[in-house]
Amino acid sequence: MNVEDVIQWANNSIFDKTGEHLTPLQEAIVMGVWQRQKYPQIAKDFHCSESHVKKEAAKLWEKLREELGEDLNKFNFRSKLEKKYRVSQVAHWGDCLQIDNVNICGEFLQTIEDTKTRSPFPPDSPQNQSPIIDLTDAPELTSFYDRTSELSTLTEWILQAHTRLITVYGLSGIGKSAIALKLIEQIQTEFDYIIWRSLTHTPTLSTIQTELKQFFGRSPQTPLPTIIDYFRASRCLVILDDVQNIFKSSQLAGQYLTGYEDYGKFFKQIATSSHQSCLILLSWEKPREITALEAVNRPARTLHLKGLREQAAEILREKGLADEEKWSDLIALYQGHPYWLNIIASTIVELFDSSVSRFLADKNDIYLGDLEPLLESHLERLSESEEKVGYWLATQNEAVDISQQPADSELSKSEFWQAIQSLARRGLVEKVLVEGRSKFLINPVFQQYIQSK
Ligand SMILES: Nc1ncnc2c1ncn2[C@@H]1O[C@H](COP(=O)(O)OP(=O)(O)OP(=O)(O)O)[C@@H](O)[C@H]1O
Ligand SMILES: [Mg+2]
Repeated sequence: MNVEDVIQWANNSIFDKTGEHLTPLQEAIVMGVWQRQKYPQIAKDFHCSESHVKKEAAKLWEKLREELGEDLNKFNFRSKLEKKYRVSQVAHWGDCLQIDNVNICGEFLQTIEDTKTRSPFPPDSPQNQSPIIDLTDAPELTSFYDRTSELSTLTEWILQAHTRLITVYGLSGIGKSAIALKLIEQIQTEFDYIIWRSLTHTPTLSTIQTELKQFFGRSPQTPLPTIIDYFRASRCLVILDDVQNIFKSSQLAGQYLTGYEDYGKFFKQIATSSHQSCLILLSWEKPREITALEAVNRPARTLHLKGLREQAAEILREKGLADEEKWSDLIALYQGHPYWLNIIASTIVELFDSSVSRFLADKNDIYLGDLEPLLESHLERLSESEEKVGYWLATQNEAVDISQQPADSELSKSEFWQAIQSLARRGLVEKVLVEGRSKFLINPVFQQYIQSK
């Protein structure tokens, strides 16, 4: 969607409802907010006061609420419109989309012509048509910052290295779903089919396979017997989100629930068979067989998603926090984790009148507050041996060598190593290089939480 399309959509929506057109200032607001400008900047560009912009914007959002929802505001305008756009596009994506009888030509689609030639489609694949996309299972993409290098890594893996199986793993709220949505936005024209499915409600593999076959079989082609056949015939991009739900709790990371082991075989088959498609797994835990596949240099790769860099400051700006000179300390303390920063920023607004300096004044502790349930949801999945090792690591003041071990843990060496490996596959333990030697460190926020328990 480009900005002119958005203005046209807003204008038509308001005209249909009120018989009035957007005022020039409202047009500037739609344009500015779509381009993530703040009201003071819009006011400056329009040579009027900020309060005038605010007043006019309030009227504008009011008029668009019927279309985009009661909670519409300047922060979610773009994502709501994009979401509305996506949902209406579950069917075929044409050169232009229709939202409520208004045609919008898509920014998502504008690179089709330049990129299409790169895909080695077989002659009968629908390469010259628009991709068919189903994102009904995907969450809403709200603000999105940074991730340039991760996005270019993923793009390179998919388009140049033709990686067939990619796992993006990391803590809850780190931005796995967000980056996958952004990736789709950037590379969707390279595919014939894109589908997103969540494993939150633990569907069996056969349910997922049936859904995928129904989806791939919707365009006029002869139904094919297996998913791999569709993966060979067309360029398909499948995203399976919340994959940790098919793994056991209280066991080492990445072990399938009873009755779900066939997922492991399916993932392996996707990685090892020859085809032109890609499966992306989003998970809190790295599946076990992925390590083995990577070890033999199969086309399977893993991205451990960590926090945002300086751009995390935009989250704090969105929340209206003060003391900008202290923001980098706050970002470092909460590891640039976007969801944690959102939560902590709300606490700072609530308890410290938005002052980051006052919040950081007590240097002894990392404040957890509303983060606790999120941290607990990770810890409650640990196996007994991981719990022992994790709790021991939380008492250590520096990174530990793998040859060290808790004296009274009753774990064998191999159990200890497995526990460390498993904690790392959950992103709870980090490997750091100290004087040329790898050592292991527990995530400081989890360390604080465990110590406080
Ligand atoms: N790059 C980003 N810029 C700004 N905000 C972000 C970014 N990535 C994620 N967020 C915000 O952080 C929150 C969590 O992101 P997301 O849902 O993608 O996390 P997740 O890793 O998929 O979590 P879960 O494993 O629980 O599904 C969202 O509210 C999202 O808007
Ligand atoms: Mg997610």
